This record gives sequence, structure tokens and C-alpha cells, in this order.
Amino acid sequence: MKRDFLSIADWSSKELKKILDLSADMKARPSRYKNSLSGKSVALIFEKQSLRTHVTFDVGIYQLGGHSVYLTQSDINLGKRESIYDVSKNLERWMDAVVVRTYAHQSCVDMGRYMKIPVVNALTDYEHPCQAVGDFLTAAEHLGNLKRKKFVFVGDGNNVCNSLMLMAAKIGMNFVATTPEGYEPPSEVVRISRKEAKATGASVELVHDPAEGVRDADVIYTDVWVSMGQENEKEEKLKAFQGFQVNRQLMKQAKKSAIFMHCLPAHRGEEVTDDVIDSKQSVVWDEAENRLHSQKAIVYTLIKG
Ligand code: CP
Ligand code: NVA
Repeated sequence: MKRDFLSIADWSSKELKKILDLSADMKARPSRYKNSLSGKSVALIFEKQSLRTHVTFDVGIYQLGGHSVYLTQSDINLGKRESIYDVSKNLERWMDAVVVRTYAHQSCVDMGRYMKIPVVNALTDYEHPCQAVGDFLTAAEHLGNLKRKKFVFVGDGNNVCNSLMLMAAKIGMNFVATTPEGYEPPSEVVRISRKEAKATGASVELVHDPAEGVRDADVIYTDVWVSMGQENEKEEKLKAFQGFQVNRQLMKQAKKSAIFMHCLPAHRGEEVTDDVIDSKQSVVWDEAENRLHSQKAIVYTLIKG
């Protein structure tokens, strides 16, 4: 049966660990997988902008010997020129998998439902599962065994935070979402994460005080305050997130050995200062690199798995 990669919640701890191990192996021994997707074609559909996700899927599929077709809204105008159902029914006749970035999470879920081929969530308003895989590969490279280590997300309880929280719970890391009131992650994602955390012996906490949240952290992670599609909420969000900037002072509350992470793009001077993102503690370029290795592992698992 075909599998989709729409949410971290859909994949077991064991399966996610396998994808993380495969990502590490693909990074260490790329030539081993060189022609593994030979003759395979993957559509990359993007309703919104992207640097990392677009480039790393495109290059990653090429490195595995496959072919990708990049489609933006000006090409297919998903759901407007043609319904999501009709687009899906066409694509499954030509392609071996579809990677899709949409505004509404439901659009991505619907494509998975309509097609006989695997669908990968390349970021929706609800989750960014590919980011979480790359980030846990990066965290493990820097911290070794992640079990019981403290992962603190500071910022908006949104798509990136949701996938990281689910992943932390499944891998057994203690997770703290530090957000302003009213910007906590959705209760359903918290509920699922807490259930998963019980099984791995980890914890999931919601905190509103940044200094308290980051105390003794092993990882401090942030994301933009205004996500794509939320531009009309900019003024109100910039106000609500005052005090949630990751700066030197906040980093001092974490462990000395703590790493700083950011999915990027960063709005320097808003959610993070230059002296943090450019510091020795920052691993943001490793994260960006690891999107390549982990996305190869995701596509490989879905097509060959
Ligand atoms: N982190 C990330 O997904 O970056 P892009 O939006 O540039 O793809
Ligand atoms: N939360 C951000 C992440 C970008 C990778 C957004 O949705 O725009």
C-alpha cells in the first residue's frame, strides 16, 4: 500500500528512526544510492515561495537518478484553473510521487486521498514534517543521543513547531513550546504529542515566559513570527511576540553547550539577532544542508520502501 508523508503523527517512532538513519547513511555514502530512483519522476508543486525545500528536493531527486518537474501557481493555479481532484487524477498517471506545498493542510491531505502515488507535505499551515526530519538529523549530529535532552521552541506555535513537537515526542526528547498567550500550538497536536511522549518517557510542556522556557535547554529553536500567508496579521503579531526574540541574553539561560536552530528564512532583528544566528552555537547552515539528505531519504522510502 502506498504511504504519504503528510504528518509526523502518521509515522511510528521506529519508522522515523529508520528515515533518520537512512538520511545519515545517504549523507555519508551518497554514491550507494546514486541510481536508486532511475526512471522515476516526481512533481514539486508549490503554492507559496521556497528556497530550501524547492532546491533540496530538486537536487536530491537528481542525485538519486530521478527527474523532477517544478510547478508553481502561475503554471497550474491549483484548485482554481482546475480542481485539486482533477490535477491529482492527471498527475498520478505520469508521476511516481508528488511533493506539495499548500496554504491549507486539507489540500495536501486531499491530494493524498485522491492519488495512488505517494504525496509529501512540503509545508502547509499545519505542519512541516520534512523540516523536522532534517532538524533531528542535525540535532543528533551535534548532541549525540537525543533521549531526554531538552528541545525548546520559542515563537509561534505554528506549522514548524507542530512537526518538531510531534517528532520530539516520538524520539523521546523533552519538548517545551514557549509562545505568547494565544499563540500556543493547536490542542490536538499537543494531545497527540503528549500521548506519544508517554510511550517514549518524554515530556511536552507549554510555557509563556521565554526565560523560564529556555532554562537549561540543549536546543533553542525559533521560526519567523509572521508566516507565509499571515502578512495581514503582521502588525498584531510583531506586538504579541515582543520579548520572544532569541538574543544573547536569552541564550545565556540555556546550557553552555546548547545549539541554536532556525528553519530559515530568518527575519534577522525580529525573532533572532545577528549575534545569535551567526554565533558558534548556531547550526542553521547544517540544518539547511541536511534538508537535502533527509529529503532524499523521505522520497526514497516512499517510492522504494
Ligand atoms: N525552511 C524552509 O522550508 O525553507 P523554504 O521555505 O525556503 O523552503
Ligand atoms: N512558519 C514559516 C516556515 C517557513 C519555512 C512559514 O510557514 O512561513
